[in-house]
Amino acid sequence: MENSKIGFIGGGNMAASLIGGLLDGGAPAENIVVGEPNPDRQQWLEQKFGIAVTDNNADVIAQSDVVIMAVKPQQLKAVVEALAGALQTSKPLLISIAAGVRQTDMQRWAGGDLAIVRVMPNTPALVGAGAAGLYANGFVDDDQKALAQAILQAVGIAVWVTEESELDLVTAISGSGPAYFFFLMELMESAAVKHGMDIDQARLLTLETALGAAKLALLSDEGPAELRRKVTSPGGTTEAALTSMQEGKLPEIIELAICAATERSRELAKELGE
Ligand SMILES: NC(=O)c1ccc[n+]([C@@H]2O[C@H](COP(=O)([O-])OP(=O)(O)OC[C@H]3O[C@@H](n4cnc5c(N)ncnc54)[C@H](OP(=O)(O)O)[C@@H]3O)[C@@H](O)[C@H]2O)c1
Repeated sequence: MENSKIGFIGGGNMAASLIGGLLDGGAPAENIVVGEPNPDRQQWLEQKFGIAVTDNNADVIAQSDVVIMAVKPQQLKAVVEALAGALQTSKPLLISIAAGVRQTDMQRWAGGDLAIVRVMPNTPALVGAGAAGLYANGFVDDDQKALAQAILQAVGIAVWVTEESELDLVTAISGSGPAYFFFLMELMESAAVKHGMDIDQARLLTLETALGAAKLALLSDEGPAELRRKVTSPGGTTEAALTSMQEGKLPEIIELAICAATERSRELAKELGE
């Protein structure tokens, strides 16, 4: 990765988190270039990271071995169509982090025959704890796959899927997943406050418990179900809470929620691909 020229089209939040992760991991600043139209943002990126920033996206493509498309999903079609000539001339590896846009649609907009890795990242990438699903089309070779993986691993973990359609389920699990955990934290915090706890204490106890549970589950040889059983003494407080959740049909609610998110991901891909 140290020798690869890495270009970004779009220098927003997600690009900045990837650039920060790449530089922390030892990528030389002179190997990174960003295409970004907003002058304030250009200045911020130059000052924060010491990298080259331009408003000429075609120049970014001409200079780069790998180009990361980091614009909003709704902007992607116009951006790819405008850059089709430059992409066909230099044929870089294209990595798209735009949620919901299928590589087949990008391929069509760009004129075909491009090596594309489509990524479904998530917001904890902003703090270096992302979980991303990756799909490579048939033009991507092993070295390019390794490069894409190394870039995403600069901000978390990366998991490959073999069919692009699997990214809809990835979207429902890890893409939208942070919001499910935030919702649970929000509900635990507000229940604690409702029953008399100070809000700062409620938040700290809730967030540290979420972090601790995730760390324990990641470091343990046992799965979440076994760890749950271990904290659930017969007749105890945890059992009372979990019985209440079962009676409220929480397992069915979660499964329905995952199905709803997966279906919405399929619908959005159709809408964004038109
Ligand atoms: N944020 C996340 O954690 C997250 C999670 C999953 C997926 N993603 C995906 O990551 C992508 C980027 O998200 P983000 O949150 O980083 O968005 P963002 O902060 O809005 O960044 C997009 C950047 O692209 C710039 N831009 C717009 N048109 C451009 C053009 N023609 N050429 C070059 N740059 C252009 C925008 O400039 P202006 O502001 O001037 O328009 C903005 O700076 C999205 O596709 C999103 O689906 C993000």
